[in-house]
Amino acid sequence: PGSLDRLDGIPMLPGFGNGLSQAPALRAHRDGTQGVQEWVCQSYQQSDAEGVQTLLLHLVDATADIDAGLQVTLTLTLHKDTDLLSMRTSVQNTGKQTVQLDWLAAGTVPIAAPLSELGSFSGQWAHEYQWQRGPVPMAGWQQHNRHGRSSHEAPPACFLMTPQADDAEGEVIAAQLAWSGNHAFSLDRNEDGSFLLQAGEWLAPGEVRLAAGDRVQSPTLHVTWSKQGLNGASSNFHAFARRHVLRWPHGRMAPRPVHLNTWEAVYFDHDDATLRELAVQAAALGVERFVLDDGWFPGRPNDGSGLGDWWPDPVKYPQGLTPLIAHVLGLGMGFGLWVEPEMVNPNSELYRQHPDWALQSLGRTPQLGRNQLVLDISRPEVSEYLFEKLSTLLSGNAISYLKWDMNRDLAQAEDAQGRMAYGRQVKALYQLLARVRAAFPQVEIESCASGGGRMDLGVLQHTQRFWTSDNNDALSRVTIQSGATRLFPLEVLGAHVGPAPAHSTGRGQSIDFRGAVALFGHMGVEADVRKLDATEHSALARWIALYKEWRGVLHTGAFHQGQTANGVWWLVQTPRQCILGVYTTQAPSSQHHAPLRLPMLMGEAAWCLRLIGRAGQERARGQADTGWLETMQTSGLVLSGSELRVLGLPLLNMNPQSALIFSLTSDTV
Ligand code: GLA
Repeated sequence: PGSLDRLDGIPMLPGFGNGLSQAPALRAHRDGTQGVQEWVCQSYQQSDAEGVQTLLLHLVDATADIDAGLQVTLTLTLHKDTDLLSMRTSVQNTGKQTVQLDWLAAGTVPIAAPLSELGSFSGQWAHEYQWQRGPVPMAGWQQHNRHGRSSHEAPPACFLMTPQADDAEGEVIAAQLAWSGNHAFSLDRNEDGSFLLQAGEWLAPGEVRLAAGDRVQSPTLHVTWSKQGLNGASSNFHAFARRHVLRWPHGRMAPRPVHLNTWEAVYFDHDDATLRELAVQAAALGVERFVLDDGWFPGRPNDGSGLGDWWPDPVKYPQGLTPLIAHVLGLGMGFGLWVEPEMVNPNSELYRQHPDWALQSLGRTPQLGRNQLVLDISRPEVSEYLFEKLSTLLSGNAISYLKWDMNRDLAQAEDAQGRMAYGRQVKALYQLLARVRAAFPQVEIESCASGGGRMDLGVLQHTQRFWTSDNNDALSRVTIQSGATRLFPLEVLGAHVGPAPAHSTGRGQSIDFRGAVALFGHMGVEADVRKLDATEHSALARWIALYKEWRGVLHTGAFHQGQTANGVWWLVQTPRQCILGVYTTQAPSSQHHAPLRLPMLMGEAAWCLRLIGRAGQERARGQADTGWLETMQTSGLVLSGSELRVLGLPLLNMNPQSALIFSLTSDTV
């Protein structure tokens, strides 16, 4: 057969060049030599505390070459409360000569052969989290992200499952890399049909060089396992984010306030009277936080200039932001502010003073993205400048929220010495965020990157919300939010009622459908609410009130999703209360709608079902008797757990862009 005489099993840390042809967990060399490694475990430490089991494996390269000197520590942390394993790897150069690292997997995960289907996300700007699923190719699979941020195109996550697994049932292993920069995921097929999953930071040429004694640490790979299908894996991710990742001001999540974001209402056109009136109208709708988006700093009539000069525009805001903030606070709302600290426009005071602060490839024409360059925030003087500017804004004003944006990919990301700075930039971002949070612990931060270009468990350690997408078209949002909820809980997913027609697609939906979709997330409004007519105004106020009534469930319960013949459904479950949204996105494909089985309702408890929200029209003709629907609107329809599990909830055909929202309550669970 031509194979080597010794064939090993699958190790925790596959080495390169020593007979094992599978993906090496680490690729390293010293100036082109010593590229072979064979890892042996030298010692280990184990601890078990409060449901968290930790195993540290210390490995060395088994070689007689005394100059080789590499040590690896694998840290495996098992969170029993969420069925989640966290893995990270560190490498130390214990030799004398510099080591160059070309690849370091955060972890290597064996995937049993039956889990032969892969789910992952593709996307682009305004089209994030497009779920795709199919068999793992015989040749394996790779996903490389070189956008310098988590990216719209390939967020750092994947799901492996049996071909039979679906949303509700079957075996699934899912992985997320807690990292906001370049990454690589790979699946290699083993001789026995099983796979090796690896994920880690994608390293640019020469990016990691370890001098004698230096150590490097990979990001953390979080892996979960479930037999309850994709929803089971997602629930584990959600629970993990809630218990172990999110850090709220004052130690616990306050009810997620309804936002009014000014972006699609006024764009760069900041006029005092308009903004004040917008705030008045927002407060009347029940909005609780007013977020002043891009356009408030000097030299910002459009996106061509101004980034870097983080003080209020003296023309638009002659007395600073204080009068507007006082007005907003006077209306009972909190105040949030948009910033994009990592960026600089060449046309700005900052760039004119410090042109060398931008990451750029010397000798080449700088590559702009949205007319801007990226600052080298790993330089202490740069992060100091940004911290000082943010501190001045936050300490001089009652600002309780920052929308922290990042609107371009990294390219030519070399520092002043010509060294690749992709990964360092991400670490510097985390440090700056942590510093701002430590100095202003009451301030929440939203992670935005042209919509959902920076959504991952790494940045979520420092932030409390993602801006899921610049696409506020509610029909597009059904798909985007269905995808994003596979990874993140609803309370961190910004979901706004935008204008109709939607600015991103030109397609319009009723205010009710927009409200029904924004309900399942951290709800907000991003439209010129001064232009709503009386009917729209009261409809939007009703959706906001419904969100407030149910956010306690939406933001703490277990999330489930699934497909119907004509759309999707989302359900959030707590022991005695559930909220269910059924969204019709396509024209009905059959005369009558099939009942919706709800397998998560275990036991025989009686559930009282009410129709608490409705958007769009039922199909005009050919419906079965819908008397049950009236009952749901009046006294409530009582069905048992087994009826809902086995027979299902009766539904009716609706036209596309319609939704039915139900509550399920039980006193007998
Ligand atoms: C990005 C964000 C938007 C908005 C604009 C402002 O595109 O995703 O929500 O903040 O920037 O320039």
